[in-house]
Amino acid sequence: MDITRQGFAVTKKQVLIGRRHFLLGMGSFVGTDALAIASRYGHGKNPIQVTAQKSRDFSVAENTPLRNRAAAKGLIYGAATQTSILRSDTKFATRFAQECAMLVPENELKWKMLRPSLNSFDFTRSDWLANFASKNNMFFRGHTLVWHKSLPEWFKARVNSQNAEQIMLKHITTVVKHYAGKIHSWDVVNEAVFPEHGRADYLRNTPWLKFLGPNYIDFAFRVAAQADPKALLVYNDYGLEHSTPNDEAKRTAVLKLLERLKSKGTPVQALGIQAHLEGEAPFNTKKLRAFLKDVADMGLKIMITELDVADNMLPKNVLVRDRLIAGIYEDFLSVVLDEKAVIAVLTWGLSDRYTWLRDRKSRKDSASVRPLPLNAHMERKLAWYAIARAFDKAPKRGF
Ligand code: G3I
Repeated sequence: MDITRQGFAVTKKQVLIGRRHFLLGMGSFVGTDALAIASRYGHGKNPIQVTAQKSRDFSVAENTPLRNRAAAKGLIYGAATQTSILRSDTKFATRFAQECAMLVPENELKWKMLRPSLNSFDFTRSDWLANFASKNNMFFRGHTLVWHKSLPEWFKARVNSQNAEQIMLKHITTVVKHYAGKIHSWDVVNEAVFPEHGRADYLRNTPWLKFLGPNYIDFAFRVAAQADPKALLVYNDYGLEHSTPNDEAKRTAVLKLLERLKSKGTPVQALGIQAHLEGEAPFNTKKLRAFLKDVADMGLKIMITELDVADNMLPKNVLVRDRLIAGIYEDFLSVVLDEKAVIAVLTWGLSDRYTWLRDRKSRKDSASVRPLPLNAHMERKLAWYAIARAFDKAPKRGF
């Protein structure tokens, strides 16, 4: 990786951007593409002049993989991946084992993949991943037990208010016991909060809410705790990172949910912050820090569970784009890792060759997306260096 050559991209122009907080997390922008991005957020009343950053330094000492850099600080670095990818791409599998100390099945533990029918479970694919993790000295992590998406075809016809509790109980008990003693943590409930649905408790309208009422969350955690008292039990959600009104509302709503759960003794032990960051959206360092502290003050651990940076709104130029993405990684992680309750950072994929963003947030100019630490050829990008730098600078956790 030629850092100096990469560094060339943002040395030249000056950009006028309107709103101060836009800059806090964003690093630099150049050229007309940058102005187009800035115009989405930069129309505040106090325009300030911004000089595009000169050759922001993304260098690191030594070649040490991310897993070792994280471990040196008492942190875990890992990533999500899929059985089919690891089985078919040996180069990827080798790089995955080198860089990651934790593996999260991207889809294999979702109902759709695990439960071909109401009365059967198929652990073939997830067991393969658990073995891969174990052989390569990695933690294995569970995603996810209760979600409104990736439900099997039979769900709609077979699940109703009368049987939903039994079906959830059987699912959580069977799956959690299957991996008891082999799993680091479980996303017990995923994405249950959605203020836009307009409920007073901010919960999302899901089949689980409809069948079981708001207590389904507490129930799921209690069942999971009974099935494996040692796994760390996590509430996982997205939209908690940026300074947009939606994210502000989501932070408030998630804090309220966690407070409610804690007050009734629900065994929730950590918050999973997905961190699917939008390359063009601002984040506010102060608010993010305050949110992390509020969560930590509840006695909860924090995991960054699905980190990536969507680049569909960023300039096409790869050198510029990679610098922007790297800047966001380092700025975000620097804030997050200052909070000692944060114990792990997981990216949602490792290489740009395999990312959900290719389908979900593709670019209008049809250039390939570049949201992850390694490029499509498994080489380290500036994003990798940015994450490495954030680990190197992070305060050491107690061992
Ligand atoms: O397995 C089938 C395959 O047989 C078929 O040929 C193919 C055709 O498209 O589809 C395959 O299933 C897809 C599956 O990914 C495996 O690639 C599903 O259609 C597709 O919906 C599924 O998308 C996943 C999505 O969650 C929904 O479960 C993404 O890979 C996965 O990255 C994404 O992950 C979510 C987290 O679970 C929760 N947080 C947000 C995150 C991103 O959306």
